[in-house]
Amino acid sequence: MRLEDTEEKFNKPFQALDQALSKCPAHIEFEQDNYYVTDFDSAKQAMGNPDGNYVEQSDFFNVNGAMFSTRDVQIAIGKDAILSLKRYYEQRRSKIIEQFKHQINLGQRWPDSANDLMYNAFYDFLVDNQRSPQLRKLLDQVLIYSLYSGQKTHGAGWRRAFIRMRVHRALRAVFKARRQQNPYQGNNRDVIDILLASSPENESPKALAQIFLSFFFAINSSMAFTLAWSLYFCAKEGGVLHPAPWIVKEALRLWPVAWNLPRTPSKAHTLGELDIKQTDTVTVCPYVLHRHPDNWPQPERFYPPRWENASADAPYMPFGWGTHKCIASAFALTFTADLIGAIQGQQLTFEQLSDELHPEPAIAPPAFRVTAHNPA
Ligand code: HEM
Repeated sequence: MRLEDTEEKFNKPFQALDQALSKCPAHIEFEQDNYYVTDFDSAKQAMGNPDGNYVEQSDFFNVNGAMFSTRDVQIAIGKDAILSLKRYYEQRRSKIIEQFKHQINLGQRWPDSANDLMYNAFYDFLVDNQRSPQLRKLLDQVLIYSLYSGQKTHGAGWRRAFIRMRVHRALRAVFKARRQQNPYQGNNRDVIDILLASSPENESPKALAQIFLSFFFAINSSMAFTLAWSLYFCAKEGGVLHPAPWIVKEALRLWPVAWNLPRTPSKAHTLGELDIKQTDTVTVCPYVLHRHPDNWPQPERFYPPRWENASADAPYMPFGWGTHKCIASAFALTFTADLIGAIQGQQLTFEQLSDELHPEPAIAPPAFRVTAHNPA
């Protein structure tokens, strides 16, 4: 099924996709030669790439259209990072949960509040402020001007470009300076140390800065928005009415924050019933996969109990699939469920502050306020 070329389609892609999905299409040609697959098998072929039909690709390790370093280096960085992240969280778990509850009790505005929470809680995992204090003010600005909801749509583009340039410059300088020092042996090992430890000595500071920012956005945007969507649905229901892990999975089914994963064919091939040319794009869009009526019954309904008996091989890809699947998928689910579980028993009031969704690479819920009536 081919979608008509309208400006509306790009401004409100979810509406356009919903309309298409209501007709139960075999695939959606979102724009010319860009095919959104709807069935799990085709999505697995494109993501798992068992026949080498696609250029090896991962959004996370993408540096200006090319892949960062070697696959071995990527894997070493991923392993080191996830171990450090888990250790970091275990040491601060109760403090982070208390902070989340505090923000709920204050009746704050979300999803910005989730960005604040993640940024403050995980800043030292990303950067040891003692050793690299020059980054803090710049990264504060990335938080405000690139992550707060709607900034990309309504904020000034020139300001973001200027901040991005300054952040890149500062990060490159930090990588160069740290490389001159002996490997850090203290307790505050950060993502900068992790990247330097596994990369070859001649890896460019520019590429390292780019991967640092992938970590920055994974935590402060993907994780933050997963928390915000989970809270959004709980607040709408008046409280945490189901086991927290089901809520988080169901929120990510309806709103997979990384909703668009395009793949580039390396040769012409057949994918399901589609004849794919090398010049086409095949997009695995978890939003489409998770809401296609052939894949999930009553797909538009927020219904956490569906996870009670869900198969491990359900058509569900909020963290990608195959070789490049997210290293933090289990952590992200546990972490978010920990926080949501901590407000079980509270009566919540929901106030929607906006209807606007901003179709950015990571999709955030529309602005809302949650008020707790019997603060824990
Ligand atoms: C809820 C939060 C998160 C979501 C929804 C998410 C989603 C994803 C997705 C969809 C991919 C696959 C990208 C592709 O195939 O193009 C991915 C890969 C990746 N993610 Fe996450 N992510 C999250 C959190 C994190 C965090 C917190 C980290 C690290 C601290 C992380 C590190 C990575 C890495 C290293 C990869 C690349 C894996 C590889 O290519 O081998 N992610 N993530």
